Amino acid sequence: MIVPGQAQRVLSGMRPTGRLHLGHYHGVLKNWIELQHEYDSFFFVADWHALTTHYDQPGEMSEHVWDMVIDWLAAGIDPGRASLFIQSRVPEHAELSLLLSMITPLGWLERVPSYKDQQEKLKEKDLATHGFLGYPVLQSADILIYRASLVPVGEDQVPHVELTREIARRFNYLFGRDTGFLEKAEAAVKKMGKKAGRLFSGLRQAYVERGEQAALDKAQALLEAQRNLTIGDKERLYGYLEGGGRVILPEPEALLTDAPKVPGLDGNKMSKSYNNTIALRDDPVQVEKNLRAMPTDPARKRRTDPGEPSICPVFDLHKVYSGDDVRSWVEQGCRTAGIGCLDCKQPLIESIIKEQLQMHERAKPYIEDTTLVRNIIADGCERARSVAEDTMAEVRHYVGTDYY
Ligand code: TRP
Ligand code: SF4
Repeated sequence: MIVPGQAQRVLSGMRPTGRLHLGHYHGVLKNWIELQHEYDSFFFVADWHALTTHYDQPGEMSEHVWDMVIDWLAAGIDPGRASLFIQSRVPEHAELSLLLSMITPLGWLERVPSYKDQQEKLKEKDLATHGFLGYPVLQSADILIYRASLVPVGEDQVPHVELTREIARRFNYLFGRDTGFLEKAEAAVKKMGKKAGRLFSGLRQAYVERGEQAALDKAQALLEAQRNLTIGDKERLYGYLEGGGRVILPEPEALLTDAPKVPGLDGNKMSKSYNNTIALRDDPVQVEKNLRAMPTDPARKRRTDPGEPSICPVFDLHKVYSGDDVRSWVEQGCRTAGIGCLDCKQPLIESIIKEQLQMHERAKPYIEDTTLVRNIIADGCERARSVAEDTMAEVRHYVGTDYY
């Protein structure tokens, strides 16, 4: 939902897993880099989330955090546009997470697909913990505390954003009906003026009584355009419109990024757990060596055997890195045995190394002077905290924990 009077906010986080690879770049970072130009963007290191599964390796955290932030900067995230911060440096996330946990039914958490999946996958770890079950509650707090309207995530995270919406709805329903809510909402409608007020009431009725989606859209647009309502009144009316309470925490939407398939050096999906990655800041000599050794169409044993690009992982990399001209050269040359696999890999090697060269250059000043990175994060944390603190002041008020 669009928060009245504010630029739309985008928020996303990444667990600090250390050096990032080309899969992260094409799947996530390129998207963040685009979004930072269009939205008020907040990107953060989810260090507490990392602890839910890696609580037994606290010593590695710090290095992973700084390596990852440098990779973000190397990839082209611009700290002048986006606020970059670390979750644990904004302790308000923990407070909101705790408050949300009060109203989140256990069943909702047990049904989140990643809960059982990860327990299956990480069998060697004891994930029957309170913290791990609460992972999506903490994630909801991360999102809701910034009143983010858009959350760019991969497919695996969509259920978490859905749960965030449900938690927000429940929260607003339980805490957004302060005494006199209806009276105040009616009074706010009057402030819209006779004509707009009547139109709004009609549209609200059409939505609440008959579920007409178009009426809801129109009424929201009408609200958005109101100039003589306070933000408080608008929030109240957004909630009133949908038949609920005041919208204290707006529901976010997932922004699904379609990630291209980036194969790793062994042909399987690129992933740290398969140990088959090309890191953003790998050494070019090593990258070239690794790519030359990458498996190709297994049927192509000899240079004279024709191959089939559609089953070759190298060709998947061409789909990410090469234009139509190179790709048709590959398809033709491979199927006729006109080119060898090393010929085929050469333009790829060049494109990847060229892309990485720019990343090395961007990273250089930060590696040489790590206070630059620390300052960027300090700045981002400050911006994040100021938003988070505002939200929490309101949340405490509605939950009833602001005592004077
Ligand atoms: N759970 C996310 C992941 O594993 C990381 C994350 C934590 C996140 N909090 C978030 C992503 C808030 C988006 C919004 O990728
Ligand atoms: Fe794969 Fe290229 Fe070799 Fe064909 S020529 S098998 S596409 S590496």
